[in-house]
Amino acid sequence: MALDFQAMRKINEGKTKIIYANPDDPQTVYMVFKDDITAGDGVQHDIIEGKARVDWRTNRDIFEYLNRKGVLTHYVGSPEEKVSLVRKLDRKINLEAVTRRVAAGSILKWGDMAEGKRFDPLITQFHYKDDPLHDPMLDESYIRFMVHSKGAREYSEMRKINDRVFEILEEAFSRFNIQLVDMKLEYGIIDGEVTLIDEITGGSFRLWPYARKNPDLNQENVLAELDPAARLDKDIYRMGGGLDSVQSKFEAIAEITAQFKTLP
Ligand SMILES: Nc1ncnc2c1ncn2[C@@H]1O[C@H](COP(=O)(O)OP(=O)(O)OP(=O)(O)O)[C@@H](O)[C@H]1O
Ligand SMILES: [Mg+2]
Repeated sequence: MALDFQAMRKINEGKTKIIYANPDDPQTVYMVFKDDITAGDGVQHDIIEGKARVDWRTNRDIFEYLNRKGVLTHYVGSPEEKVSLVRKLDRKINLEAVTRRVAAGSILKWGDMAEGKRFDPLITQFHYKDDPLHDPMLDESYIRFMVHSKGAREYSEMRKINDRVFEILEEAFSRFNIQLVDMKLEYGIIDGEVTLIDEITGGSFRLWPYARKNPDLNQENVLAELDPAARLDKDIYRMGGGLDSVQSKFEAIAEITAQFKTLP
């Protein structure tokens, strides 16, 4: 029987998802994907028919893979199309964790950062989530304070989970000759533990196909080893690409993440 969201209490509606209380279980909530796509702190906004379904698939396959790898996430299951069941947050940590392997996007504005520079170890920026403030970057000690004030044990836990998630997904995409360039994740507190929450979809990362088989990624700059023109991610939208091409790239991502279940 289909879920009746009309009869459910809406807890929260954001740019890309609606959260409903689960009438049968106070510990979980339903997360319903929308067809909306936004960029530039919501300044750019469109509706792409079919986006909710493709995001839902990508999100499902990535979270199922992370759960299988033992990462602590909020994801429980996907009871029907466009709907995920997740553990309800006790407290939200109002942060975005942006992790980078390869320099692209906003970091290129910093000094003389060259596109394609490779970071090893990974670098992570933590931003305070606030669109009108344009998500300012936070100092480590302030983040420690924020996480502690939410009642979680340790901020360092979040850092550890964050690096691990990046490395797991970087390795998974590499099996399909794609580089995970960078990624944005969110965390919350569930049962006192720092837990990976929210969504991981085409808007969460940059994905650049390899320029050829077996690229040499052990270099200062890997731009020539990759093919950014064939990017699969939301940059297509940010750069003014047509909505059809955005959707077809998102479909391509979902086709790849669908194969994560075949990975060890
Ligand atoms: N496990 C969870 N329990 C409760 N709420 C959650 C959970 N995971 C994510 N959310 C919340 O769902 C809301 C809707 O998500 P959406 O991504 O659409 O919001 P948004 O417009 O991007 O706003 P935000 O900047 O808060 O993410 C967000 O406030 C997000 O924090
Ligand atoms: Mg969001």
